Amino acid sequence: RGKRAFIAGVADDNGYGWAIAKALAAAGAEILVGTWVPALNIFETSLRRGKFDESRKLPDGSLMDIVKVYPLDAVYDSPDDVPEDVKSNKRYAGSSNWTVKEVVESVKNDFGSIDILVHSLANGPEVTKPLLETSRRGYLTAISASSYSYVSLLQHFLPIMNPGGASISLTYIASERAIPGYGGGMSSAKAALESDTRVLAFEAGRKGKIRVNTISAGPLGSRAAKAIGFIEKMIEYSYVNAPLQKEQLADEVGNTAAFLVSSLASAITGSIVYVDNGLNTMGIAI
Ligand code: NAI
Repeated sequence: RGKRAFIAGVADDNGYGWAIAKALAAAGAEILVGTWVPALNIFETSLRRGKFDESRKLPDGSLMDIVKVYPLDAVYDSPDDVPEDVKSNKRYAGSSNWTVKEVVESVKNDFGSIDILVHSLANGPEVTKPLLETSRRGYLTAISASSYSYVSLLQHFLPIMNPGGASISLTYIASERAIPGYGGGMSSAKAALESDTRVLAFEAGRKGKIRVNTISAGPLGSRAAKAIGFIEKMIEYSYVNAPLQKEQLADEVGNTAAFLVSSLASAITGSIVYVDNGLNTMGIAI
């Protein structure tokens, strides 16, 4: 049978998660997605009404089939962690079993196991603020939603991941180089994610024969990136300064993800793989 993938962080057809889902589907994988609870309704409605049909097209002409959409809020590990105001919030009360532990239990009940785990989500409420103006709460929320969410997902999914499987996340160069504008502790969150990639690769490799890598992606005008506010400038900067002066497509990240989780990459784990037209290699560009 084909491989089964769970992709956390898909809520429209613009982001990296969607592109990764498509590349995995094109390679024959069965696709399950985890969608942030507040975005669930509109995503499912749009899917059902055919709004994504054009972008569901795979190279062979068929449409990507999303076998199941799970509501997910990756900042909560189990129901005990959910504060009252969230529980009673209309958008959350309309769905159930969306904490990490419950989602994994649901996937286990529905399908038994998975082969591939993709983490394509991030959130930093103060991302537009410089680090010098970031509150403790904003910083910790960025880390919780963007870094620990991955630790938690892998921790819970690992027991139902088939040996030989693989996991990937998405990171950004602001973890290693100062990128003014990527604030609110998001740069710190990506640094944690990259460090965790190495430690988790060791632990999950030894414990479950699972490989763990992260893709450091170039700028993409996704919904999340537009919220940061400077994405058009970053795309332009990359175009002007990168070794490859071309638009960087989400599909290029999708294809790399498909390679990294496939047996073609069977000796690659704990790595940061750059998919950014080479921008990370530059010192100054003239
Ligand atoms: P996106 O908006 O398509 O994806 C982010 C997703 O995270 C959204 O679907 C959102 O609903 C979800 N999300 C937020 N908080 C959540 C939570 N608590 N629980 C579950 N889901 C939650 O945007 P994009 O840009 O494709 O982001 C995907 C990943 O790529 C992120 O890790 C991002 O940091 C990374 N990345 C993006 C770059 C860009 O320029 N767009 C560059 C490098 C990395």
